[in-house]
Amino acid sequence: MNCISISDFEKTAKEKLDKTAYDYYSSGANEEITLKENTEAFKRIFLKYRVLVDVSKRDLSAEVLGTKISMPVIIAPTAFHKLAYSEGETATARAAGKAGTIMILSTLSNCAVEEVVKASSGEIWFQLYVFKDREITRDLVRRAESAGCKAIVLTVDAPFLGLRERDVRNKFNLPEGISVKNLEPVSKEKLPVKYDSGIAGYFSSNLDPSLTWKDAEWLKSITSLPLLVKGISCKEDALLSVKHGADGIVVSNHGGRQLDTCRASIDALPEISEAVSGQTEILMDSGVRRGTDIFKAIALGAKAVLTGRPVIWGLAADGENGVSSVLEIFRNEFDLAMALCGCDSVKKISRDFIV
Ligand code: FNR
Ligand code: LAC
Repeated sequence: MNCISISDFEKTAKEKLDKTAYDYYSSGANEEITLKENTEAFKRIFLKYRVLVDVSKRDLSAEVLGTKISMPVIIAPTAFHKLAYSEGETATARAAGKAGTIMILSTLSNCAVEEVVKASSGEIWFQLYVFKDREITRDLVRRAESAGCKAIVLTVDAPFLGLRERDVRNKFNLPEGISVKNLEPVSKEKLPVKYDSGIAGYFSSNLDPSLTWKDAEWLKSITSLPLLVKGISCKEDALLSVKHGADGIVVSNHGGRQLDTCRASIDALPEISEAVSGQTEILMDSGVRRGTDIFKAIALGAKAVLTGRPVIWGLAADGENGVSSVLEIFRNEFDLAMALCGCDSVKKISRDFIV
């Protein structure tokens, strides 16, 4: 295997994965316009660099919610890692810890939150989907808390699942022996089979589309962990997150998997960081594939980026080592971007570097 870029990893993963799994991971909603736009928008942003700055030493570290990470890249919550690799989320978590960063674990993981926290030497944050049955939700939060997770990340852009046409065509479901471990005590092992896409069926039968800002406040009241709101894509909602007490927001369109033809996350970021101006911590995701993308996101106001699919490609290509390699590619590319911009510390990255 000779993968030197994230796109090399995607090619390798595509060769290794069965079609249904590859399609589930890679697809976006409907015509996949936002999916493509997320990466295209980064390419339309141009950098301005400075010269004759001493960049012989660079400090890539960042701080999110008081936690120091070795670089401003965090693992995004993505479901079902066992479709990519037999050890699932525990392998991803080991790689995250070794890289000195945080992994956000999906509610819909194939390994139980307790095992994942044990596997990593770094922090695990828990991504939460809110169930119609609030006792299930409360139990999930309690379980994440007592397992040792350090934050709750409430996903708010999925009252229903976006229509991923490839999943419908493939009748996506989990193969025998792979289950949603965090929900085992309370729900059936399998996703429902009566729907064309099992996961879309799961969302419409179990998750609560009536969620509002009141529920975010309720969540804050039942946990002592910091609460981040993931899926913010305009300044109005960013300001409401602040008003309702969120400790952080993730500017995200779910990697183009929810509302097709919404704008790219990186294009939503500037108005959000301007409006929020330091009142809450801003993270961003969707379409980050290069070190220069990380640099641009930070220049436009994010503290760190989340990476979704690239981690899955690493996991599918070579398990824990593949995830480690993907994170190292991001680290090396970001390091070089900083050096070539004439910037020796993440703290010094600013809008001045954007044309
Ligand atoms: C996701 N995403 C996601 N988000 C979330 O809050 N809970 C989840 O369970 C999942 N599951 C999931 C599965 C897969 C296969 C993908 C690709 C994405 C969204 C994810 O956290 C993140 O927002 C995007 O993946 C970011 O875009 P990139 O990095 O994949 O371009
Ligand atoms: C997805 C869900 C699980 O994007 O968030 O597939």
